[in-house]
Amino acid sequence: MGKIIAVVNQKGGVGKTTTAVNLAASLAVLDHKTLLIDSDPQANATSGVGIDAGEIQASVYDCMIGNAQAQDVIQHTAVPNLDIFPANINLVGAEVEMLSMDRKDYRMRDILYEVKDQYDFILIDCAPSLGQLTVNSLVAADSVIIPVQCEYFALEGLAKLLNTIRLIQSGINSHLSIEGILLTMYDSRLKLANAVVEEVQQHCKGIVFSTIIARNIRLSEAPSHGKPIIAYDIQSRGTVNYLNLAKEILVNNGYEQQH
Ligand SMILES: Nc1ncnc2c1ncn2[C@@H]1O[C@H](COP(=O)(O)OP(=O)(O)OP(=O)(O)O)[C@@H](O)[C@H]1O
Ligand SMILES: [Mg+2]
Repeated sequence: MGKIIAVVNQKGGVGKTTTAVNLAASLAVLDHKTLLIDSDPQANATSGVGIDAGEIQASVYDCMIGNAQAQDVIQHTAVPNLDIFPANINLVGAEVEMLSMDRKDYRMRDILYEVKDQYDFILIDCAPSLGQLTVNSLVAADSVIIPVQCEYFALEGLAKLLNTIRLIQSGINSHLSIEGILLTMYDSRLKLANAVVEEVQQHCKGIVFSTIIARNIRLSEAPSHGKPIIAYDIQSRGTVNYLNLAKEILVNNGYEQQH
């Protein structure tokens, strides 16, 4: 049964989509059937794996409001073992429309129930908000990855996010766990970046991934080619970093070490 991991942080531009896309592709390349879910109306994860959000017939939105079935919307990507559950701008409407629906917090969990068994991992790329879509992702998820950018105010907003996670844990999803906090966009030349790494590791002892994602220009170029980094530049530091993250997660989840 697939492990559902939400990539979440209400702060914008911290590397959620970059992490969701490239971790999903890395797990797929390491031979694990993986589904990437785009839960952001910006649809960056969808375009990031080469799907034109303007061309799709049905999306996560149609499933959220009960007009389509997940298996009819999910598509294969060019990366073997990696499927995408695409979004488009329609998803903006779901935030409000869901509020008056039955099981408004459980729509994503209900949708995934039918497809969960087909995958080893399901990664959800969340929008930068703690709105209804993100609540749905946290209710559906087994764990969360929290990307934190190595910059000023890195910890800003983290307390609120951890509090939201605790609320969900003590209410509708008691088995939600923290897969890890992921330091992103690290630049070793900056003194500040090192200070942030230390601060986050001290403040969040025991829940920070050992893998740190370095700032790498190739990671920022890959989306415009509609490819995960591993398909765009296999030699890049970004490829190495996200493969290491995938391996760290596999080990943490009881899979044998891969070489
Ligand atoms: N390690 C990295 N090195 C260089 N650029 C990066 C890295 N990670 C992310 N970026 C770039 O930073 C920008 C923000 O990243 P990304 O879109 O992944 O953040 P996000 O948290 O999903 O944003 P949003 O909150 O808007 O959804 C993008 O242009 C992305 O290409
Ligand atoms: Mg994003």
